[in-house]
Amino acid sequence: MKPWHTRLILAFILGFGLTAHALAWEYDPDIGEEINEVCAGCHGEYGQGGKDGEYPRLASQPEAYIAEQLHLFRDRKRPNLAMVEYVDDRQMPDEDILNIAHYLQGIKLKTKLPPVNENDPGFDAYARLIESKKLMQIPRTEGNIEKGRDLYHHECASCHGRSGQGSRKKAVPMLAGQYTSYLWRQVKKLRKHIRIHDPDEPDEELLDDFNDTEIRDIFAWLSTVDD
Ligand code: HEC
Ligand code: HEC
Repeated sequence: MKPWHTRLILAFILGFGLTAHALAWEYDPDIGEEINEVCAGCHGEYGQGGKDGEYPRLASQPEAYIAEQLHLFRDRKRPNLAMVEYVDDRQMPDEDILNIAHYLQGIKLKTKLPPVNENDPGFDAYARLIESKKLMQIPRTEGNIEKGRDLYHHECASCHGRSGQGSRKKAVPMLAGQYTSYLWRQVKKLRKHIRIHDPDEPDEELLDDFNDTEIRDIFAWLSTVDD
């Protein structure tokens, strides 16, 4: 056992080192783009997700949330067989997590393309093709939209944001613009405590207070937000 002052000095050096390290980190878009090539295999080139929600959308997701989930996958606290080999320490050091999270938050997907003016001499077919790949709109799902909106605003908006956009400050994911099938899969995992919904109350699952019809109504409203 080292004397207490040696330990204190060590702790100080270590603490200072880590702080200096975090402060020294600077976003590098090239690294973000490079890492994204790996993710794109499943989550799409623009983070738009795929296979109807088997792979969730990551574009515009709050970066703090993306980073947190990557840490949970890396530490095996959130199971994800598909991603295991991509997120171990060697493959995905902390700085890479910060870079890719920031990169993905910055991708904006449109829900509609502006109308084309055929006679516009500046019309660029290639640019339009790229734009059309960055489109994503959640198809309307069944349910009572009015009831869903009310429930959502009373029970979910305080964390997930007024229009389901998530919270950058509180690391809460967006729900509007995410595949409905993916959200249902997560509801099951949250109810089974495979994922923890609210870290302040890890033993309580807040979705336990809602039946499937209520959740269906909430998701029906969420599916209209991007119309
Ligand atoms: C082999 C396919 C695959 C690759 C490659 C992959 N993922 Fe995933 N990812 C998944 C699957 C499947 C899920 C959903 C797991 C679930 O249902 O809980 C997921 C979930 C996620 C989530 C959680 C999203 C949410 O809203 O909860 C994040 C964040 C994520 N991936 C980031 C990444 C990043 C960043 C990369 C690249 C470094 C990456 N993934 C590469 C398959 C993949
Ligand atoms: C106290 C804040 C809070 C409230 C209230 C809340 N959530 Fe969440 N929700 C979170 C957080 C934080 C996460 C991310 C959990 C994690 O880190 O895995 C989350 C995750 C989710 C997910 C998984 C999304 C994904 O991309 O993986 C779903 C689905 C969800 N919440 C639905 C709801 C619904 C529906 C309501 C209202 C009935 C609700 N939440 C209310 C904080 C909250």
